[in-house]
Amino acid sequence: MTDVATTAAEHTRRDFLFIATGAAGAVAAASAIWPFVSQMAPDADTIAAGAPVEFDLTPVAEGQIVKLFWRGKLIFVRHRTKTEIKSAVETDVASLRDPEADAVRVKAGKSQWLVVYGNCTHLGCVPLGNDGSFNGWLCPCHGSVFDTSGRIRQGPAPTNLPVPPYEFVSDQKIRIG
Ligand code: FES
Repeated sequence: MTDVATTAAEHTRRDFLFIATGAAGAVAAASAIWPFVSQMAPDADTIAAGAPVEFDLTPVAEGQIVKLFWRGKLIFVRHRTKTEIKSAVETDVASLRDPEADAVRVKAGKSQWLVVYGNCTHLGCVPLGNDGSFNGWLCPCHGSVFDTSGRIRQGPAPTNLPVPPYEFVSDQKIRIG
């Protein structure tokens, strides 16, 4: 389980592979118990079509960003540090291209967790985490810079990284969709 200890500085494919593996395991587990919950659980086709997915946040270390897919779209789950939260909260919202307070982009009492779609709002490239002059994300394609709230700060992207529909179903678990 070395991937659990992956640091923010190691934003590589390892995070994705870890989550992808976990997701496959979850699907396998769901399949195994299928006979017992067939009246309640969505089948594989329904999941592929966009049924809600649950994700356990426990292995995501502070400072780490993990990537997962929901409805075929990339999603970043970022466990923000206190410094990253402070930076996001103290930003002058009126100065932003797409003005949104950090508080409306996270769940109350859970500001350490940022969940956003993972494709640049310019032309869809995948931004690099913990990079750029605001230490949020840097899109390598045309230089869009996002802050630690996923808000556009520099470059051609017109809007913030959107927040997908999700909720906390327990202290350390979210349901997307
Ligand atoms: S696709 Fe990200 S800046 Fe163009």
